[in-house]
Amino acid sequence: MEIRPMRMKDLVEVRDLEMLCIREYFENIMENSWEELPKDWLENLGASSSRSYRHYVDGGLSLVAEEDGMVLGFVFAQMLHHVYNVENMLWVENMGVHPYYRRTGIGYRLLQRCIELGREKGAAAVHSAIQPDNLPSLMMHRKLGFFTDSREVALLDLQEKKVSGPK
Ligand SMILES: CC(C)(COP(=O)(O)OP(=O)(O)OC[C@H]1O[C@@H](n2cnc3c(N)ncnc32)[C@H](O)[C@@H]1OP(=O)(O)O)[C@@H](O)C(=O)NCCC(=O)NCCS
Repeated sequence: MEIRPMRMKDLVEVRDLEMLCIREYFENIMENSWEELPKDWLENLGASSSRSYRHYVDGGLSLVAEEDGMVLGFVFAQMLHHVYNVENMLWVENMGVHPYYRRTGIGYRLLQRCIELGREKGAAAVHSAIQPDNLPSLMMHRKLGFFTDSREVALLDLQEKKVSGPK
């Protein structure tokens, strides 16, 4: 198995795999069925969506795991600057491994290589967005030395809601 930079030609395979992982997650937490979700909303989900994919490929920090010409796993990452007072922060946006190939070390190797690359490009820290109830992901991050606590990030969607003004 080879861990290599993500390329534009991987788009279809990576898109399918990321959507499979997102669907898996949503079906665990949502009541309505995946098929009922609006098509345009689904199209914009994930780092492999048409508006994000090239950005991640061009950044050079996103990787795929490939074997026999098949993409078995992916990680989307980019460098952020001046976040939490860190000049260069590697931001891990999303990652996934095909369900059939899980627990064979692919996720670990993908993230490990991504961290090495981030370090080579000057990152002083890595931030990875994980759901606290995602045990496999949590355990993998801990195995790689990530520190986790009860910290949460507050999100305000500026396209969905009007920002409240002064009372
Ligand atoms: C999270 C995910 C990427 C892990 O990838 P993976 O290739 O299966 O993980 P690895 O085989 O490299 O496992 C590395 C370590 O993670 C932990 N781990 C992985 N899966 C686990 C599980 N099901 N239960 C407990 N620990 C697990 C273990 O510590 C494991 O080391 P070990 O096998 O020596 O015990 C994969 O489960 C996945 O794609 N999940 C769905 C998408 C997702 O949740 N993405 C993460 C978003 S942040």
